[in-house]
Amino acid sequence: MPDTSQVLAQAHFAQAAERFEHSPISQQLAQLSERFFPLLTLDKSQHWLDFGAGTGALSVPLADQVGQVTALDTSAAMLAKLAAKNVPNISTLEHDIFCGLSESYAGVVSSMALHHVADIPKLLSCMRQCLIENGQLAIVDLYSEDGSFHGDNAAKGVVHLGFDPQQLLEAAAQAGFKDLSYREIFSIAHKNGRNYPLFILLGRASGTGA
Ligand SMILES: C[S@@+](CC[C@H](N)C(=O)[O-])C[C@H]1O[C@@H](n2cnc3c(N)ncnc32)[C@H](O)[C@@H]1O
Repeated sequence: MPDTSQVLAQAHFAQAAERFEHSPISQQLAQLSERFFPLLTLDKSQHWLDFGAGTGALSVPLADQVGQVTALDTSAAMLAKLAAKNVPNISTLEHDIFCGLSESYAGVVSSMALHHVADIPKLLSCMRQCLIENGQLAIVDLYSEDGSFHGDNAAKGVVHLGFDPQQLLEAAAQAGFKDLSYREIFSIAHKNGRNYPLFILLGRASGTGA
């Protein structure tokens, strides 16, 4: 049963999908993959999961580097935009990760999706469960902010006003990740005149998931 924030996020992205990639923020985020793919170990034998893949800002460039990408999202409208790109080694998956996944992945990436998910410890645990041992984790999101990034947070299904990456790192360790680190990876210039830094959290699945 989806919670209120999931329902609101789905309603928001159903409306936003059409123009999503044309927004000034999405256009800046199109450069994100070239910043952080060099931090990952990518090869054509791998199958990766993109959590909250949306219209494929990460999935599409990732599909150039790996064998297969599963683009998971709860928004059918966002995934339809991605599916229309007809990238042969991307499969879209409209699914609630909390219902479990049948595949195992070499890595999980996620960009700007975590702030929509209420139960982060449970999400990190699901991510750990779907990774092979030593599988890679790379999560990008906003540092803690005052709510001005999205403005109408509740209506957009935003449940976290960014994150303290140290706290996220500790939650990831609890969920069964190791070799954890974070750093600033990007800064978004917003139309409100402010800049919002993004962090990347990197880690690997340890032998024992939580
Ligand atoms: C801001 S968009 C980012 C999309 C893409 N990762 C990018 O960087 O352009 C957030 C995405 O997360 C998805 N999302 C929100 N809550 C989710 C959930 N619980 N499970 C999966 N996807 C979710 C939304 O539908 C939306 O496509």
